[in-house]
Amino acid sequence: MTASPRIVVVGSTMIDLIAYTPRIPSAGETLVGERFRMGFGGKGANQAVMARLLGAEVAMVNALGDDLYGDTTLQNFASYGIDTTHVRRVAGSSGVAPIWVEPDGTNRIIIVPGANHEMTAEQAVSAVESFDEVAVVLGQLEIPQPVTAAAFRTARERGAVTVLNPAPADSLDADLLASTDWLVPNEGEFAALAGAEPTDHALTSFAERAGVRLVVTLGEEGAALVTDTGEVLRIPAEAVSAVDTTGAGDAFVGAFAYGLAAGLDEERALRLGLRCATDSVTRPGTQASFPSQQRCRELLAEL
Ligand code: RIB
Repeated sequence: MTASPRIVVVGSTMIDLIAYTPRIPSAGETLVGERFRMGFGGKGANQAVMARLLGAEVAMVNALGDDLYGDTTLQNFASYGIDTTHVRRVAGSSGVAPIWVEPDGTNRIIIVPGANHEMTAEQAVSAVESFDEVAVVLGQLEIPQPVTAAAFRTARERGAVTVLNPAPADSLDADLLASTDWLVPNEGEFAALAGAEPTDHALTSFAERAGVRLVVTLGEEGAALVTDTGEVLRIPAEAVSAVDTTGAGDAFVGAFAYGLAAGLDEERALRLGLRCATDSVTRPGTQASFPSQQRCRELLAEL
């Protein structure tokens, strides 16, 4: 196992504006929330932080606006020791995400991508090319798909594994799918792509049709993996009392990507993803809810 593999995340940053609310307001209704929390988010940034907490050398590729959110996001990456050489600043606003969390931990999210949509394919390619060795290049769908596709093509040329979390749900450009090794959607994203519930048959036939290795996260029910021999392995999640599920999927993807990059077999990488995600839902916030470095060491040792 390589304890500190290099992972390049070509993905989004957002500032999360989280309201904890007794319920979701109806149309035209004003509702009094219980608490508010501002934090660092964006699926790309969250996954980068999770992989870093586990011990990866992580480089972030992103675009931030010329606002205070951009400044503070760079400081946040620096506090984790994440390489931001390939984060550009552009005119305009950084990405933001208003989020509502109900008492059972359920979240609802709107993203306003802002600067994230100013990323370019050239930026992503030169970032991937700048490292001698890259184990995994990780992407999501909060930045333009051609940017991720360009990064993935370069990653493959250089022998890196590509992992795509197709979130938020969208159809996939053919060339992005063609350069994806591992696809890691949640249940809803899988349904959007495959047009089916995640039955064993739907999982295996979609993985074969799309030409990818497939892991689908299933919330409280854990996750399902299509093995390299075409069987479906379902691993349940540990039952916990959730207070905030925001970012749990990102904790899973960041940890799973770390596992693959570090050389864990895919089942252990999946178990690591589940443990990090389960741990995160017991605390409020997005990155703030992720297991600490110390807790990550324990989770790795327990595998
Ligand atoms: O997956 C959770 C993330 O989705 C939040 O951090 C929010 O910023 C959106 O990107």
